[in-house]
Amino acid sequence: MQTAIITGASSGIGREFAVRLDERYRFDEIWLIARREERLKELSDVLNAKTKIISIDLSKSEELEKLRETIRREKPDIKFLVNAAGFGKFGTVKSQTAADIEDMINVNIRALTAVTHMCLNYIQDGGGIINMASISAYTPLPSLNIYSASKAYVLHFSEALGEELKDRNIRVTAVCPYWVASEFISVAKQTAQSEAVDNFKFITYPYPVVSRAIYDNGCGKMLSLAGALPHILKGLAYIAPSKVQMSVWNRIRKLHTLNINNLLQTIPNN
Ligand SMILES: NC(=O)c1ccc[n+]([C@@H]2O[C@H](COP(=O)([O-])OP(=O)(O)OC[C@H]3O[C@@H](n4cnc5c(N)ncnc54)[C@H](OP(=O)(O)O)[C@@H]3O)[C@@H](O)[C@H]2O)c1
Repeated sequence: MQTAIITGASSGIGREFAVRLDERYRFDEIWLIARREERLKELSDVLNAKTKIISIDLSKSEELEKLRETIRREKPDIKFLVNAAGFGKFGTVKSQTAADIEDMINVNIRALTAVTHMCLNYIQDGGGIINMASISAYTPLPSLNIYSASKAYVLHFSEALGEELKDRNIRVTAVCPYWVASEFISVAKQTAQSEAVDNFKFITYPYPVVSRAIYDNGCGKMLSLAGALPHILKGLAYIAPSKVQMSVWNRIRKLHTLNINNLLQTIPNN
């Protein structure tokens, strides 16, 4: 039984992974994980493979334990694990609610690590793990602080995990996109300082990011950067001191360069 397990499958990048992996490989089963069951059911209807819908809140330890139990019981033969569940909130640390801070750390760091750990015994030798990091992993970002720090964790975790799993030929790829048009931005704006970040120029779409990530993982690349901009930003992060990077970010982050609400309305299910 060839299985793919995808977290964050109810929208955006995770959903795109489900569609593209289903198109490309013959899975016996695809496990779709997120909170919104209806969305997962709708996705299931358009996939060729049989699916298992797992509607859980990954920020909650007890729900992660339920997933661990399911994996232990079913012993899936995992060909791909995609950790796409994650979110960010705009605004300074002081302006955030304690619950948002905790949830961001729980979903972006704790759940991603736990889901990876619980799958490790069941991933086939030669299988793939794709973790959604972000280009923000390379730069400390005021007003997107906890999110960018959480993605720095994902990047480091993925790179070191890839080394640890080399002897089993398991390819681990961290995906680091720039802005992607998805519900991510609507969720990130649900804060007291919703306009703290308002510059989404050069935004891309899930398809190029996901296609590139699947290709890069197939080539055994540790890092997947779709398009020129993430390459440029990564290069700048290496040569410019953090202080300079943050000062540039602070100058540009509020520039209202395009009507993001109009653009987001064009995304299905948003
Ligand atoms: N969009 C961007 O600009 C961008 C850029 C770089 C990196 N990324 C990263 O890419 C990944 C996918 O983001 P996206 O753009 O596709 O955003 P999205 O459309 O908002 O998708 C986020 C997914 O995470 C799931 N999720 C969030 N909280 C959860 C929880 N507590 N329990 C279970 N599932 C949860 C959501 O499902 P439910 O709401 O149904 O639970 C949804 O399926 C994230 O890790 C994000 O940080 C995004």
